[in-house]
Parts: sequence; C-alpha cells; structure tokens
Amino acid sequence: MQSVCLSSFIFTKMPAISASAPGKTILFGEHAVVYGSPAIAIPISNLRVKAIIQPNIESQDSVVAFNNGTNRQKFNIHALPPDDLIRGIVSVFEEQTHRKLSPFTLTIHSEIPIAAGLGSSAAVAVAVTRALGEFSGLKLNGNEINEFAYKSEIVQHGTPSGIDNSVITYEKPIYFEKGMPIQTITIKNKLHFVLADSGERTLTKKVVDFVRESMEKDHTNYQNLLFSISDICRIAKNAIMAGDAHVIGKLMIQNHTLLQKMGVSSQKLDKLVDLSLQAGAFGAKLCGGGQGGFMVSICDKETVDTVTDQLRKISSCVIKASIGGLE
Ligand code: MEV
Repeated sequence: MQSVCLSSFIFTKMPAISASAPGKTILFGEHAVVYGSPAIAIPISNLRVKAIIQPNIESQDSVVAFNNGTNRQKFNIHALPPDDLIRGIVSVFEEQTHRKLSPFTLTIHSEIPIAAGLGSSAAVAVAVTRALGEFSGLKLNGNEINEFAYKSEIVQHGTPSGIDNSVITYEKPIYFEKGMPIQTITIKNKLHFVLADSGERTLTKKVVDFVRESMEKDHTNYQNLLFSISDICRIAKNAIMAGDAHVIGKLMIQNHTLLQKMGVSSQKLDKLVDLSLQAGAFGAKLCGGGQGGFMVSICDKETVDTVTDQLRKISSCVIKASIGGLE
C-alpha cells in the first residue's frame, strides 16, 4: 500500500516530458529518391510538432490526445489500428529498446498540416520517439531516433525513402541518397522561401503507389524522368552550398516540370507555381508527395513579401521560411 502511494507521489511530482521536431520541405528529388536517386531537403524550423508525455497513474492504458486548439480527442494507443502512426511509434520503440513502457498520456500539438508534403508524420515520429526516450530514462542519440522514426514511417507509409525522418531528426539541410551516409549541407548565404497550400490533400502513400504503378506501365519514360531529376539534384547541391538563389530557382522550375510529367502535380499547385514566378520568385515547385499539399518557391529578401502577399490571394495558408547564412 505504502509503495503504491509512494509511486503515485513520485509520478505526480514527475514533470511532464516535452520534445519537439520541425517540419521539412523537399527542394529537389521527391519520388525519384524512393528509387535510389539523390534528393535535397531542408527543415522548416518555424513549423513544429510538440509531444508531451506524462505518466498515467489513473489507468493501465496509454492514451494519446491530439490538441489542436478547440478539438481535443483522446485515443487508447493499443486499441488504434495496427497501421496507425502513433501505435506504430510506440510499438517500434518497445521492440527496439526491448522495454514495456509504463502507462502514459501523450499529448501532441502540431503546427504542421497533415498530408501536405511538409513532413507531419515524420515530425510526429521524431518528437514522440524523443519524448519516449526521455520518459524511459534512455539517452537515445540522433542515429537511434532517426532509425526508430524511419521504422515507424514504414508502419504507415510502406516504402518511405527515409529522407523525411533524416532531415527532421538532424534539423539541417541534407543531401540524401538511400543507403548512403547522410550529407548535411552548409549554405553560404541566407535563402528565402515561401510555401503555399493548395488546399488539396492526398496521402503520400497513395501518390507513391500511383508513381510505382505508372512506372510499371511506362518504364522507359519514367526511368528517363528519374535520371533527369537525379542530374538536377546533383547540380542543385552546389548551387545550394553557394547560396545561389537564381540557379536554385531555375533548377526548381525544371524539377517541377518533371514532376508534372510524372503526374504528381495538380492544377492548383501549377497555379501557385505560376503566381509565385509572376510575383518575382526565382523558382517554384510542388514539394513532397504532391497531387495536392504545398508548393515551395525561392525568392530574395526584396521579393519575399510581394510573393507572400500574392500567394495569400489564392491560398489559405502561406508560410515564410529561411535557412543558411549566419543563422
Ligand atoms: C515524401 O515527403 C517524399 C516522397 O519522395 C516519398 C519518400 O521519399 O518516402 C514522395
């Protein structure tokens, strides 16, 4: 009896554990990266997921609550479907660490739109894994968090390339090629981006499946598209290191054209790209899975506000982001 009271006392006194992770945007190489081509992604540090864990002393269940302002829904984690992301993250954590977690309440606050190409599921996986690590008294390093998050993404997506969990775990611009060491990129000058929501949503898995089926039907054509995207990506790496927004912009436009040919753009995304260019952006493209979600454009300091204002006329969510230089 005394030990129950004592453990309750310790639990109630135990402060909540909190961890966070950023969103991301892919600048070059989405989809092609699934087939082994390189890709480049940057973190969006001003869009975050926060995971808060508290011990659950009132029940034996672990629950998750999604806190997005007014709506606070709670779910028993072990009763969620087997392919659910949160259930997957907890199962992967327990399998990899050979531990059974004591009951907890997990609250997730996310600023990252879901199924929009900005890495929402990978950010949840990284933030929750970090929080679970601390909750269980483990000091997980970056590589372990990245690996657990990747395995959790497999539960939901099937065949993720691993770029999303990597850029989000290390929170640095990366040049990524499946099976190769991750290269972080140091950018000489500050680069300015504006992201805009098409308002359309398609799950990444669905678009990845669409590309796979299209590739089976029209192999040569898709293979050529993948080769061209790889070439662009290799050239883009140097332009990004040099902080050359003009060249990056031109290459982004070329990458968008190739993504259109792959069938993963949409009329709304194309309209956002066109509008960004008319407003003075150096380049723009869809980002992430596509068939909806966000578009990313690159600007300079002088045009970033004009591009933002123009995009706000046709998009309900426009986000400014910058990276590189003296941060
Ligand atoms: C998703 O952010 C990017 C895709 O290339 C899928 C992946 O890399 O796993 C479409």
